[in-house]
Amino acid sequence: MESRRFDPKKLDKLNNPDRLSYLDPGLIWDSVGLHSPKTIIDIGAGTGFFAFIFAGKMDKGKIYACDISDVMIEWITEHTPADIKESVVPLKMEENSLPLNDGIADLVYMINLHHELEQPVKLIVEACRLLEVGGMLAIIDWKKEETPEGPPVSIRVSEETIEHQMQGGGFGKIRKYGILPYHHFLVGEKTRYGCKT
Ligand SMILES: C[S@@+](CC[C@H](N)C(=O)[O-])C[C@H]1O[C@@H](n2cnc3c(N)ncnc32)[C@H](O)[C@@H]1O
Repeated sequence: MESRRFDPKKLDKLNNPDRLSYLDPGLIWDSVGLHSPKTIIDIGAGTGFFAFIFAGKMDKGKIYACDISDVMIEWITEHTPADIKESVVPLKMEENSLPLNDGIADLVYMINLHHELEQPVKLIVEACRLLEVGGMLAIIDWKKEETPEGPPVSIRVSEETIEHQMQGGGFGKIRKYGILPYHHFLVGEKTRYGCKT
């Protein structure tokens, strides 16, 4: 099967500020509604486009900008703005596995990653492992319909499927926000019943 993974040679596309018109970080941040998060994990961070913005919204604490691609991790390392260097930690990860301890995060998020995943439930279970009880997983990915930009509709994932996968991975209280024009936006909570394995 042909890889769905984003081609790092096209990384300039990820830094296009036009993306902010339909993926408004302020709206996303306010909807998740965390108060003074200490640890955030961005899975599939790409060039850190969103991690850099969210780092600027944190009082203190760390945001781990994680990616499977060495090219992306090198790019983040070289381009993190000086004023947020203390907050952003670039981190190479393997498919479905991050070198971080259990229960460290208030929020794990994935933006424009879900349609690239071979084993989404495995990664959702890994996100659950990383979260503290009550922590949130936010998944934002292209709606499964024609939009002015984005990957082929055939490889996009429906909102219902993402919701079932989150439930299958152990998340509850799933909220679906219909506020982004081209993207599904789901947020689930790690419950005290723990994660699926
Ligand atoms: C389309 S880009 C989105 C980047 C970023 N989230 C954004 O919206 O600007 C997807 C990124 O996910 C990474 N990726 C793909 N599969 C992954 C996986 N299983 N685990 C971690 N990163 C992955 C790719 O290397 C790429 O950098």
